Amino acid sequence: MKHWRIEDVAWDRFDPAKVDPDLIPLVKAAAMVERNGTDYAIYLNRVFGDDPDFRQAADYWAEEEVQHGDALGKWAMLADPMWDYQAAFARYKAGFQLPLDATASIRGSRTGELIARCMVETGTSSYYTALGEAAQEPVLKQICRHIAADEFRHFKLFYDHMRRYLARENIGLLRRLRIAAGRIGESEDDELAYAWHCGNHPEGQAYEHARCSAAYMSRAMAFYRFRHIERGMGMIFKAVGLPPRGRLSDLSAKAAWRLMQWRRQRFATKFAA
Ligand SMILES: [Fe+2]
Ligand SMILES: [Fe+2]
Repeated sequence: MKHWRIEDVAWDRFDPAKVDPDLIPLVKAAAMVERNGTDYAIYLNRVFGDDPDFRQAADYWAEEEVQHGDALGKWAMLADPMWDYQAAFARYKAGFQLPLDATASIRGSRTGELIARCMVETGTSSYYTALGEAAQEPVLKQICRHIAADEFRHFKLFYDHMRRYLARENIGLLRRLRIAAGRIGESEDDELAYAWHCGNHPEGQAYEHARCSAAYMSRAMAFYRFRHIERGMGMIFKAVGLPPRGRLSDLSAKAAWRLMQWRRQRFATKFAA
């Protein structure tokens, strides 16, 4: 059961005067990645082939992710009536492929796969919380709130299954940390940069990874506040099996916040160049 439906959004409250133009390209890019949830469910169904409970949960999860894409896409078409969500997504799907023929997790274990999923949900829950708080336009605010709530629930879903597999696979802390850090680092891979490209560049324009990644990152990072990083760090710690609250988590959150500000500056310089 979905926790909300697109029809529940108060679309008639859309107020073009309150749209922040800096948010539109981010919403377009996010719609691409979210809409691609069905492909990820295909991959998860293969990796967890003999686990019907998890496979069913993954299918529900994908339906919610697709709804995130559709809601964001619909909003972006209200904010920019010239934009075509379906056409942009068709280009994204044609150019960005997940390893759909995999029979085992690309993370080396099912626990590892679920830790990586926890990292993604940590990222999305923080991101939509940050966007929702920054948005002044009431419909986008409502959508971001709904999505952020789903993403927190998704974290819990993958976390609970991860604990189950961890008891069986017994992956050590260092490996769990490596998997988590590896997945966080992948935020600069093609998944987001190419989504920025398909969402925001006209058909026919060549894809430049570094430029798209810098454009996306410098804009997205501008919306975060320390509290989002602090909460996200607690979730990362929880997922890898460290105490989510305490000195180490606090210090890590402060360090991550400083790193983010520094990187945001570097991405902005790179993008301007
Ligand atoms: Fe999502
Ligand atoms: Fe999610």
